[in-house]
Amino acid sequence: MPLHKGPDRPDDRPLSVNPFYGEANPVGDMAEAPPQHRLPNRPMSPSTAYQLVHDELMLDGNSRLNLATFVTTWMEPQAQVLMAECRDKNMIDKDEYPRTAELERRCVAMLADLWHAPDPSAAVGCSTTGSSEACMLAGMALKRRWSKRNTGGRPNLVMGVNVQVCWEKFCNFWEVEARLVPMEGERYHLDPQAAVELCDENTIGVVGILGSTFDGSYEPVADLCAALDAFQERTGLDIPVHVDGASGAMVAPFVDEDLAWDFRLPRVASINTSGHKYGLVYPGVGWALWRDREALPEELVFRVNYLGGDMPTFALNFSRPGAQVVAQYYSFLRLGREGYRAVQQASRDVATRLASDIEALGDFRLLTRGDQLPVFAFTTAPDVKAYDVFDVSRRLREHGWLVPAYTFPPNREDLSVLRVVCRNGFSEDLATLLLEDLKRLLPELRRQSHPLGRDAGQATAFHH
Ligand SMILES: Cc1ncc(COP(=O)(O)O)c(C=O)c1O
Repeated sequence: MPLHKGPDRPDDRPLSVNPFYGEANPVGDMAEAPPQHRLPNRPMSPSTAYQLVHDELMLDGNSRLNLATFVTTWMEPQAQVLMAECRDKNMIDKDEYPRTAELERRCVAMLADLWHAPDPSAAVGCSTTGSSEACMLAGMALKRRWSKRNTGGRPNLVMGVNVQVCWEKFCNFWEVEARLVPMEGERYHLDPQAAVELCDENTIGVVGILGSTFDGSYEPVADLCAALDAFQERTGLDIPVHVDGASGAMVAPFVDEDLAWDFRLPRVASINTSGHKYGLVYPGVGWALWRDREALPEELVFRVNYLGGDMPTFALNFSRPGAQVVAQYYSFLRLGREGYRAVQQASRDVATRLASDIEALGDFRLLTRGDQLPVFAFTTAPDVKAYDVFDVSRRLREHGWLVPAYTFPPNREDLSVLRVVCRNGFSEDLATLLLEDLKRLLPELRRQSHPLGRDAGQATAFHH
């Protein structure tokens, strides 16, 4: 969230109130328009308050057309009813809401099974507000494990420069050095050998991403583990891997079943995912799982009262809504493996087709094709000089499409791309409409004398 501050200048402008709710309402309660930056002095009727808030929100984008976000923007009405029924339940009150606690436990068990935990009853896990919190917890476990064998150095975490900002946060908040493998040439994510070269006795772990936020590609987790096996043989250092499966941990198990990226690899100590991304639940729910109790040091676990006994918990916050966890259980139950496979395959089909259709326009070069995460990144072809990806993003916005353009990190800061995230609810038909709009824009874009420029801060500050 932005760190909000007050208005730059004293601003006493009140909200503007539709006369229907103000002076033209004979039974109205509105003596004065409410201020924007102070609590109003007097209450107002629920219908007036509703209308004021509702009207302001009209200017938000349409979430279904938001191709920037990985986060679920459509759920079935039945899921919405369940969420409404549970929005008053606090997830931490395990004793008061034992059935909600049980559904959370079942979700962890289902994920342990899905991710091939060698002994699902030994795996431990918890729900979180999203992958960011899950990554903080996983990073803390890695750091604590390292501190037990610490020889006095400063801890470091090795990962690709393409990691999501939550890992930079983790390193900053928990005072861990971030050792980042840069991008090189046409390689836009971590290289196992380059990662191993950054490891030493103070490396708390290596993060592998399934898949990368920048372009939707899967990082080679199995090769990373193999490289770390060889490193252990040479040096004796046993460095665990955490898989950030924010999106891919809910895609690969259904449409890439043979890909070994999870607890099948003995070096993988922990995995996170965002239930609210390809887990198909409205925001905010995530999951963090550890292979076994050894991977999650016992002293990090707190206990809350549960049916007269105590229940172990691992979380950054205390209170949290139960609705999303219930909705996750609903989705697991409702879809099962076959249902998830159908949904993720449909998204992948939309992504791969749209990527090929965009490539066929001739003006663009694909970096990825949507055949790993249903996500692809593309840039302008080398001979396109009249416009750039920022112009495309801006012009598509005029048609309601939110397609982000951003610059890549070191060593490919020269590369700017557009990225399309295909999610359930972004149908083949919607993809065709996007393509038609893009086609219609091209003649005008080609007629530009040069790219129209952009706000440099915005172009590089894209992190999700
Ligand atoms: C790879 C990766 N990790 C972590 C996150 C953070 O996830 P969340 O938004 O659930 O906190 C994201 C978000 O896009 C991501 O793509």
